[in-house]
Amino acid sequence: MQAHKYIYSFRYDHTESNLSKLESWYMFHKKESNKQLFSNIEIEPSKSAFIKTRLDVIASSDNYEHLIDQIKKKEIMTNGFKVEYLILEGDETRNKERLGKLKDVGYSINTFPDYHNPTITYGICTYEGVWYFGVVIKNNFIWQKHKQKPFSYSNSIKQNIAKALVNIAASTKRNPKLLDACCGVGTIMLEACFTGYSIEGCDISWKTCNNARANLAHYDYAAEVHHADIKDLDKQYDAAIIDLPYNIYSPASDMDISNIIKATTEITNRLVIVSTAEIGDAIENAGLTVLDYCDVSKRGKANFTRKVWVCETRN
Ligand SMILES: C[S@@+](CC[C@H](N)C(=O)[O-])C[C@H]1O[C@@H](n2cnc3c(N)ncnc32)[C@H](O)[C@@H]1O
Repeated sequence: MQAHKYIYSFRYDHTESNLSKLESWYMFHKKESNKQLFSNIEIEPSKSAFIKTRLDVIASSDNYEHLIDQIKKKEIMTNGFKVEYLILEGDETRNKERLGKLKDVGYSINTFPDYHNPTITYGICTYEGVWYFGVVIKNNFIWQKHKQKPFSYSNSIKQNIAKALVNIAASTKRNPKLLDACCGVGTIMLEACFTGYSIEGCDISWKTCNNARANLAHYDYAAEVHHADIKDLDKQYDAAIIDLPYNIYSPASDMDISNIIKATTEITNRLVIVSTAEIGDAIENAGLTVLDYCDVSKRGKANFTRKVWVCETRN
């Protein structure tokens, strides 16, 4: 039995499945499968829109009674605990039995529980014949406060996608210097700032830049927004995210798109590009190699699909 320190569970809409897998690939070096992932990499769940919980494994056994013995032997002293049963893929334990197991775990801890305001939440789950016990860390969803940002446009990117783009761009690098190359009102920047990443933005529109700055200031985030055509930005970054202009709110010709991509390769060699159109030729002509690709359709709008291209410069 291979022991892992953490068990992650995921939550997302079917339209976001490919993006969640791509994000987990860049965060964990493996793709989540069936909305769960076992790893030794510790990630704060709120960093992603798709991670629901992380179980920090304390004990595991392929024998349930043995797991309960292990919990007793831990002599857990924390008062005010709660126990939750986490249902993983393939677990067909019936509700009544699950309740019984919650009691077994609860009675193995000699302190007082508090189901309404727990100081700590323990979890029990089973996968492929092995039982796990640990501490449950939940996504706090505090980042959803960004939904109330003062300025938003109809072509602003969805928050779940923005968070995934940041994680894909940052990958496992410790303190990456990120750029939101066509930042609009700063939706992607807000998510990067929430996670604690260093990010700068750039937009050709003066008014849009001001709105992005107002959005950042609203949450007390310090991040620079450059009012410039991306071709005039003269700095270097570890990675750039480009949410390419589209529709009547930010019209752009094929040539404009090619120029934006090409200009961004001058200031970074790692690009995460979002398009609504087929841009394979523009990527190729900019001297980029596509490392990964996925698409994200809009719920209820099957004919509107965002394409996500993870690229690096060829030399
Ligand atoms: C699809 S919007 C980005 C939306 C943004 N992600 C958000 O959520 O608000 C594309 C943005 O690219 C900007 N843009 C267009 N051409 C540009 C260029 N050459 N350099 C920098 N920004 C550009 C537009 O002003 C527009 O705000």
